[in-house]
Amino acid sequence: MIIRLKVNGEWRQADVWPGASLLHVLREHLGLVGSKNACEQGECGSCSVWLDGDLVCSCLVLAAQAHEREVQTVESLAEGPRLHPVQEAFLEAGAVQCGFCTPGLIVAVADLLQHDPAPSELTIREALAGNLCRCTGYAKIIDAVKLAAQKMGNA
Ligand code: FES
Ligand code: FES
Repeated sequence: MIIRLKVNGEWRQADVWPGASLLHVLREHLGLVGSKNACEQGECGSCSVWLDGDLVCSCLVLAAQAHEREVQTVESLAEGPRLHPVQEAFLEAGAVQCGFCTPGLIVAVADLLQHDPAPSELTIREALAGNLCRCTGYAKIIDAVKLAAQKMGNA
């Protein structure tokens, strides 16, 4: 089936298997490999994207469900060589090790700070409960969120 979706501001089209996930189409048809496939079961958050402005696990969304809708991926955040403040904060706080969880976390943190510009630590932990990291122990990730809030002038 042919689907058409607006990805990071640009209308794209793909000929996909009806059971294909949005994650599969982003990575394998549209060349957007920032969203990671770690569990494919909605457990880890590595594939997080926005669908019509809502944070979703793209491994759990059928590509067909995104037909004629708007998707924003982690690739939308940096402006050319200029990183998004959340990306800068992750680097500066040392919150990246293997980096596999990082794109999903960056998207989740950007979403959190859009809705709550100065979140408490409890709110941060709750917001990121769906994002699994196997490397960092989370302390530096929490530091990165606080630093990102500061950088965005909100804390
Ligand atoms: S790959 Fe989608 S939640 Fe893990
Ligand atoms: S940095 Fe390796 S899984 Fe998070």
